[in-house]
Amino acid sequence: MNFDLHRVMVTGAAGGLGRAVTLGLATHGVSTVCIDANYEGLEQTQAEAIRLGAACHSIVADLGSDASIGEAFAGLSADDLPLDGIVTCGGITNKTRVLDMTVDEWDRVMNINLRGTFLCVQHALRTMVQQRRGRIVTIASDTAKRGAGRLSTSAYGASKGGVVSLTRSLARELASHRGAIRVNCLCPGPIWTGMHDGMTPEEHATVENSVLMGRFAKPEEIAAGVLFLLSDEASFVYGETLMVDGGVVLD
Ligand SMILES: NC(=O)c1ccc[n+]([C@@H]2O[C@H](COP(=O)([O-])OP(=O)(O)OC[C@H]3O[C@@H](n4cnc5c(N)ncnc54)[C@H](O)[C@@H]3O)[C@@H](O)[C@H]2O)c1
Repeated sequence: MNFDLHRVMVTGAAGGLGRAVTLGLATHGVSTVCIDANYEGLEQTQAEAIRLGAACHSIVADLGSDASIGEAFAGLSADDLPLDGIVTCGGITNKTRVLDMTVDEWDRVMNINLRGTFLCVQHALRTMVQQRRGRIVTIASDTAKRGAGRLSTSAYGASKGGVVSLTRSLARELASHRGAIRVNCLCPGPIWTGMHDGMTPEEHATVENSVLMGRFAKPEEIAAGVLFLLSDEASFVYGETLMVDGGVVLD
């Protein structure tokens, strides 16, 4: 794959999919700015990316706070390479059932998963519109299509459905750029990452049985789809929602 990119921001880069995307880009020599609330995980991602030979800058920020996101973007140096890509991997799941869901918990999931995605993309777009070039990949979930409610909850499903719709709406809003700024969404199926820490063997089996391929994805298998959407090879892929789910949704 070929990448006409200077520097890509990856949110949620302290582990899981975000780390795999960062390291995949580093392998192709693309510089990254990594954002996460987890300092130790970020440091490890940064060290691995630099070992692969690419520049990597990390910023600790809370995706649930607009002030924190604003500070992270304000901290990007004007002397550095321009930001021309963003991948929004940062997110949380939760397990509280609908009748026990509090407004605070609902808001927390929506703020991190949906509002955080919107704000990061909005900040990144300010630079991209100025440069008249950019690549945006948002990360939703198979639950955006099939509904959550077994292991994750309606708040999670709604937040991810929102990410799909946000992406499609952005594609229409940005159409005047005629593809110079490309925006797409990727919906992963189950990925074996820290998001599933504490899962019981029964829950593990339930998830595996929902996947026609019968297993969780490795983060690198999902990252490959993200890299494709960022690459020159996806030059005519626009406003798309790409399922990489091992056969959960069949959409
Ligand atoms: N793991 C799965 O099965 C699965 C399935 C479908 C979609 N997804 C989505 O893929 C994306 C990546 O998930 P993952 O599986 O790599 O999980 P993960 O937990 O390994 O990664 C999520 C990252 O987001 C960071 N994060 C969470 N809240 C944050 C906050 N408030 N501020 C800053 N950073 C924060 C975490 O520290 C973590 O590093 C998420 O958006 C998730 O919803 C995951």
